[in-house]
Amino acid sequence: MIRQRLSPQGPEVSRLVLGTWRLLDDPSTRTPSGVLALIKNALDCGITTVDTAEIYGRYEVESLLGDALRRDPGVRAKLEVVTKCGIYVPCAAAPERRTAHYNATATQIVASAEQSLQRLGVETLDLLLVHRPDWLTAHEETARGLNSLLASGKIRAAGVSNYLASQFEALSAFMDQPLVTNQVEFSPFCITPIHDGTFDQAQQRHFSPMAWSPLGGGRLFDPADAAGVRLQTAMRALAGNYGGATPDALAHAWVLAHPARPVSILGTNKPERVVSSARADSITLAREDWYALWEAAQGKSIP
Ligand SMILES: NC(=O)c1ccc[n+]([C@@H]2O[C@H](COP(=O)([O-])OP(=O)(O)OC[C@H]3O[C@@H](n4cnc5c(N)ncnc54)[C@H](OP(=O)(O)O)[C@@H]3O)[C@@H](O)[C@H]2O)c1
Repeated sequence: MIRQRLSPQGPEVSRLVLGTWRLLDDPSTRTPSGVLALIKNALDCGITTVDTAEIYGRYEVESLLGDALRRDPGVRAKLEVVTKCGIYVPCAAAPERRTAHYNATATQIVASAEQSLQRLGVETLDLLLVHRPDWLTAHEETARGLNSLLASGKIRAAGVSNYLASQFEALSAFMDQPLVTNQVEFSPFCITPIHDGTFDQAQQRHFSPMAWSPLGGGRLFDPADAAGVRLQTAMRALAGNYGGATPDALAHAWVLAHPARPVSILGTNKPERVVSSARADSITLAREDWYALWEAAQGKSIP
């Protein structure tokens, strides 16, 4: 598996990343042993980077991951752990919360990171992302929280998720170290970051974006989704050119092909689908095939 730095001073990661948003959706990954098996399988494929967030599973996924890692401390040493903070929703664990809200104040960021460290059972977070821009917090204030975590060594690197390029610039102005990534939705179904300046900024500032929902959150395999059916049909027609690659591998290869050098975050809980997706690492899509897949997903021709 090709490895890359997210930015010149940022962490080195595998360019396919194991996502954990949906772990609780599946009985096989609701237990620490199931999660450990999924992670070990990913490691066997060269996938060393795990993406999570405090809010996943209504604040339960980080603890599940932590329980899995405690079962085999050697595994933690082989991983880069990425987590996110800043989204707070009413739930059983926080009955005092009345309304879902964002909070990227310095106090909240520091408190959340410390709780993530405890839940995950690790001493340092390899990368902490602000999950969404908080419209009520000044960028200088958010930077103060991230800078203090960097200075204390509780996080090795800081980044953001779902930020506009302008918000990334504004926050960057107050950072002691460069932000190392912006995690955004990107797939043949969603090409917003190509149009809204996110991927231009990534190239200009030399950071790799992290792409979430690379299979459109499963749309690629949904027989009721017309765009998904078109895309899967186009992929199956091209598979012979790529050694019989499966649609999931071709979708990840499509993401990896962009010159902003995104890394692609897997959303599957199935070890065998991690294996098939990992084949993306050795696929270089031909230019015309990349555009053909875009046309299939979008249902229109390149202008
Ligand atoms: N920063 C953010 O705001 C944000 C937002 C969303 C997600 N994320 C991150 O990105 C990761 C990936 O996002 P995602 O889960 O939406 O990714 P995705 O890969 O686009 O979608 C995953 C879904 O596709 C299904 N799937 C995958 N391969 C399949 C196959 N061969 N056949 C049938 N179904 C298949 C999975 O089900 P199975 O498990 O059954 O395979 C799962 O339900 C998340 O885990 C999370 O870490 C970040």
